[in-house]
Amino acid sequence: MPLPRPDLDTRAVHAGRADLTALGVHVPPIDLSSTYPLPDVETGGQAYDQMAGGGARLEGQSAVYQRLWSPGVARFEEALAELEGGEAGVAFASGMAALSAVLLACTGAGTPHVVAVRPLYGGSDHLLATGILGTRVTWTDPEGVAAAVEADTGLVVVETPANPTLDLVDLREVVAAAGDVPVLVDNTFATPVLQRPLELGASIVLHSVTKFLAGHGDVLAGAVVTSETWARRIRPVRAVTGAVLHPLSAYLAHRGLQTLPLRVRAQQEGAQVVARWLRGHPAVREVFYPGADGDPRRLIGRQMAGPGAVLALDLGSYEAAAAVAQGCRLITHAVSLGGVDSLVQHPAALTHRPVAAEARPGAGILRLSVGLEAPEDLIDDLEQALAAAPVREEHPATTSV
Ligand SMILES: Cc1ncc(COP(=O)(O)O)c(C=O)c1O
Repeated sequence: MPLPRPDLDTRAVHAGRADLTALGVHVPPIDLSSTYPLPDVETGGQAYDQMAGGGARLEGQSAVYQRLWSPGVARFEEALAELEGGEAGVAFASGMAALSAVLLACTGAGTPHVVAVRPLYGGSDHLLATGILGTRVTWTDPEGVAAAVEADTGLVVVETPANPTLDLVDLREVVAAAGDVPVLVDNTFATPVLQRPLELGASIVLHSVTKFLAGHGDVLAGAVVTSETWARRIRPVRAVTGAVLHPLSAYLAHRGLQTLPLRVRAQQEGAQVVARWLRGHPAVREVFYPGADGDPRRLIGRQMAGPGAVLALDLGSYEAAAAVAQGCRLITHAVSLGGVDSLVQHPAALTHRPVAAEARPGAGILRLSVGLEAPEDLIDDLEQALAAAPVREEHPATTSV
């Protein structure tokens, strides 16, 4: 009798591993082959056509060449697709490579226009603002999506919670407003543990796998999860641009998925404790963290299972924010997020540096990614860093970086 559909925690442990026992191994083999033997010229050519054309490798076919197919990468893709509830995953060398491939796949055929809901991660904002891939962007807020869609719109891009100020967007509303246009949701901050955009009508979910999914600061990777139809259009872009995920990184990212639910929930618990403490600190002007007062539309519980493990705080001035970032001792002053160790960084000066001034986060804002440390230790570290920060009577939010 088949088992009932297992819980997400169970699937995270077993996804992409169904054939291991038959192979006689307990963990996925790491295949570093850059090329693969061809049984004969004719079937080799057929395999090439199959994969370069966007299809998955067929049973028994040669993988031909790592840029077309790699078994460990395919395992990771299968596992992530299962957790996001999509038909297919396509993994990339980074989150930005994943976004670039989607833009090229969606905007190539006479639909160069993109509707993008700000705020987005600074790199995504920059990619769209420069139009370097031949796209044209209209920036909007969630309420403006329907009016921003034009006849040649190929994609709507949205991120929730958004980097760095944790703004939440109602995905059902954006999907409805987009009509026939596919909606890409960057789910990096929430992960499938807290939010599954495909179930809410999105067409494509994007991850910087570098963050929570891999989770240990030792992998740079990206991925999308989508329908097989979209995957067939995205894989050929990956094949020709070559932005493939290395098999070793795929192994580590796949392993990261096994502990993802536990890590996300434990880090979220820590973040809640730290956010509560920061809200009561006199030097902190504002804490951005989805919750009762940061979620007027009540999306937590409805769209997202919890607020996650990233928060932002406004210290009122560039000087104070810089002093706190540089003054932390346990928390590492570094970009990136979602790993087992806590990181703090100044978005306006770093991750969001290329963003247009009107959309750039305030100069007093820091982003804090809460790891697995005891929250009391993080609070001790923040307390000593905040004590050393310069205090101003007035907080000139316009201080430039
Ligand atoms: C929300 C979000 N999306 C995409 C990216 C880009 O991912 P990567 O750095 O893996 O290219 C990042 C990186 O910080 C991010 O935070």
